[in-house]
Amino acid sequence: MRIESINTTHNSLKVQWSNGTTSDYLWHWLKDHSESPDDLHPNSLQRQVDTLSSPFNNSVDNVSLDDTGEQIHIKWNDQGQSSLSSALLESMALPTRPQPQPIEPIEIWHRSSDIQNLPEMTYDSLMSDNSGVKTWLSHIQRTGFVLLHDSPATPEATQAMMEKIAYIRNSIFGTFSVWDNKTANHEDTAYTSLEIEPHTDGTYVHDAPGLQTLHCLQREAIGGHNQFIDGLAIANEMQQKQPQAFETLCNVQVPGRYIGEDIHLQTHRPVFRTNSDGEVLQVSFNNHDRAPFRLPDNEMERFYRAYGIFYRLAHQQQRQFQYCLNPGTILTFDNWRLLHGRASLTGYRQLCGGYHNREDFESLARTNRLTL
Ligand SMILES: [Fe+2]
Repeated sequence: MRIESINTTHNSLKVQWSNGTTSDYLWHWLKDHSESPDDLHPNSLQRQVDTLSSPFNNSVDNVSLDDTGEQIHIKWNDQGQSSLSSALLESMALPTRPQPQPIEPIEIWHRSSDIQNLPEMTYDSLMSDNSGVKTWLSHIQRTGFVLLHDSPATPEATQAMMEKIAYIRNSIFGTFSVWDNKTANHEDTAYTSLEIEPHTDGTYVHDAPGLQTLHCLQREAIGGHNQFIDGLAIANEMQQKQPQAFETLCNVQVPGRYIGEDIHLQTHRPVFRTNSDGEVLQVSFNNHDRAPFRLPDNEMERFYRAYGIFYRLAHQQQRQFQYCLNPGTILTFDNWRLLHGRASLTGYRQLCGGYHNREDFESLARTNRLTL
């Protein structure tokens, strides 16, 4: 879109666009967003301009549009010059409130049979080709998980794969870890053979892990298959069919906790964390790790009703994508979207894996020019 013409008012600059629309920018905003090298550091893109140390006055001397129609220059009466590109002005043509956006596009699956194409690729296609990262990310954005086949069944190869995506997140469980069901490294059922009900990880930390990667390195066991459930599909269904229960799960802060030796982690989050447009950004649910809390009786009853609806939906068999982790396939899933669970097992199973932060996943999506 080209700038056709500009007009000034006492408070603002009016820009007439080539599509016939008009945008109105405050003088203070224009000075604050100047892109000239003195105002915006050319390498770091960090703001250098000062518009705050004294009250701003709208004292404009001259405004001009260059011949290309792509740059606006503003001369201030006593405070130097600003310049702004039409690209920046166009991107800010309409005022919008900054808020977290859910990653789009997504394919919500209410039952495992809704997954049209299994999100899978080979280890080599991710590791040897830069376009592989984009494919890998697209699978997670679309379905919430990705399977990486023909992977060497070693911790080293799994760690290398995770580090290709981003640095591995540290946590009380370490960074990259290898564990089994026979060695109790931590106070957590992940290190046992017990059944683990559908849940998301990290309901007891302020910033729950964004992605979780799992690779079963050895398996001499019966049972222990995993279930994955699309939490966004549950949110969607509850919003449609049980709007009051949905609202309750958007509003009640549910505390989660992890208690171990010299560790007591605790925080709280609603099951459905939403942005100001009511779009679900994050699903948090771990009934095992829920800390004691007591609301007034009527609110507590409402909570139990809504939480129970969520629980029963998450346990519906047809909703669960069942997958048996085996050596040679690395599974990564979106921990802000999918719930995961595990059946009990007998025998021995050794796994390795770790977490990535949500912001690093989003960063990789941006630098790969995937829509956010
Ligand atoms: Fe888990």
